[in-house]
Amino acid sequence: MGNGYGYTRERALDLLEEWTQSESLRKHGLAVSVCTEAYGVKEAARLGLAGDEAAKLIELYACAGLLHDMDYERHPTQEEHPFVAVAMLREQGWPEPVLHAILAHADYSGVAPESHLDRALFACDELAGFLTACALVKPTKSIRDVEVKGVLKKMKDKAFARAVKREDITAGAALLGLSVEDHVANCLAAMQVRSEELGL
Ligand SMILES: [Fe+2]
Ligand SMILES: [Fe+2]
Repeated sequence: MGNGYGYTRERALDLLEEWTQSESLRKHGLAVSVCTEAYGVKEAARLGLAGDEAAKLIELYACAGLLHDMDYERHPTQEEHPFVAVAMLREQGWPEPVLHAILAHADYSGVAPESHLDRALFACDELAGFLTACALVKPTKSIRDVEVKGVLKKMKDKAFARAVKREDITAGAALLGLSVEDHVANCLAAMQVRSEELGL
């Protein structure tokens, strides 16, 4: 389903794969997009949207997730990521809300999360990584075996997945007006439903 501009999830996935060779970075983009998409579904319902209107909104959320780190492999510095991607996407005519969200996911960009999409992307970025880390320590390495309770416990374990900033997860939940527990539950459920696609 296109969003009317031709800026589709499929195109976003193509761009992610074109710019990113790393399997784990591709999987990160996918995992984040599955989570942001779930928040898009909630937001569409809250706004009372249905049919094409809902699908268009949801697709923006999915695209922002897929594209937010698309330039990270080639341009990992704070001078370039995500500015290189945003400049390129703007030239291609991608919708402004997607660009704004991509800028706002980087807390050093000078662009603060404002819209619900901005806040959802910020909130899902670190958490999707953390949930992936929680899955990978399971014997099955499957997200299906991860439980909310275990995630909350691991968040307190500073030695576990130490690169993931807990304060960003907490701040992200607050930006969405949710408890950390509800935010974890939402993202975990979203990733579990699509575990095969995520390879998790
Ligand atoms: Fe990033
Ligand atoms: Fe990211």
